[in-house]
Amino acid sequence: MSERKQHLERLQHLVESQQLSKTLLSELFSNADGFQNQPVDKIPPLVRGKVMATLFYEPSTRTRMSFESAMLRLGGQVITSENARDFSSAIKGETIEDTIRIVDDYADCVVIRHYEEGAAARAAKLSKVPVINAGDGKGQHPTQALLDLYTVQREFGHVDGLRFAMVGDLASGRTVRSLCYLLGKFKDVSVTFVAPDIFRMKEDIKEYLDRHKIRWDEKSAINQVLGDVDVIYLTRVQKERIKPEDLKAYQPVKDNFILNQENLQLVRPEARILHPLPKVDEIALPVEVENKDPRVAYFRQASNGLYARMALLEHLLNK
Ligand code: CP
Repeated sequence: MSERKQHLERLQHLVESQQLSKTLLSELFSNADGFQNQPVDKIPPLVRGKVMATLFYEPSTRTRMSFESAMLRLGGQVITSENARDFSSAIKGETIEDTIRIVDDYADCVVIRHYEEGAAARAAKLSKVPVINAGDGKGQHPTQALLDLYTVQREFGHVDGLRFAMVGDLASGRTVRSLCYLLGKFKDVSVTFVAPDIFRMKEDIKEYLDRHKIRWDEKSAINQVLGDVDVIYLTRVQKERIKPEDLKAYQPVKDNFILNQENLQLVRPEARILHPLPKVDEIALPVEVENKDPRVAYFRQASNGLYARMALLEHLLNK
């Protein structure tokens, strides 16, 4: 870890991806590479003696387990409420404001996933220790954007100049929102939003991209963009967040947003296919293709999440 970059600037909490400057991103990517490039049993215990609490009011596989693994691999310890909606005192009516003022005495940082937009920000306002937003309703998922961009950096060696397509339920998906906020920091990037009318990207993100001089446009079928972009970022329909009538309206047009073996042939050889996962039926590729085709990057992306989160934890915990 001799190449590990020292912190040039400090975050107190991470609640939205706009907080991640290009300088900090570069530092976190460099440190994540450092963790990734050595055997796990050689990683120094950089957060030994520290405790991370994970408070998850919504389900998760990747985010919670990669954060917990990251903390353990850095020599720290973990306490968790993996189903905090039912098995923490939230079920008795305790507010996030009260919960955080208890948990911040038990842990040195708190990772929160919550079903309400703004919940992590409310917790961060009161917390004595760093709060990390692991997804807040339809709001943001900044550490997903961190690992998404880290993956792009590793796959292409740069972010500037790349053409992105974001496909699927862009109205409810928090990962695409956080990723757009990060892309606004780069040069000569373009984004094509591919969604049915009911799931179009919201205006606040389009206005943000305009302010940051990021070109964007919209299409209504995945085949219209597959041959023209470098990064195809697919997302699932967020069934848990949308109205039943919107889900019904989606059924007749859903094939326009599915990547399969047939339209995979349109994807450029250098392009990369990303997805925050879990994927459902928006990717219909056989396991053999997923395992062999270098354009399929979503499992590498999930793996990168461990190292990106290690870098973030080390940043937040070592003041
Ligand atoms: N991408 C992501 O947030 O996955 P999980 O819901 O499994 O944490």
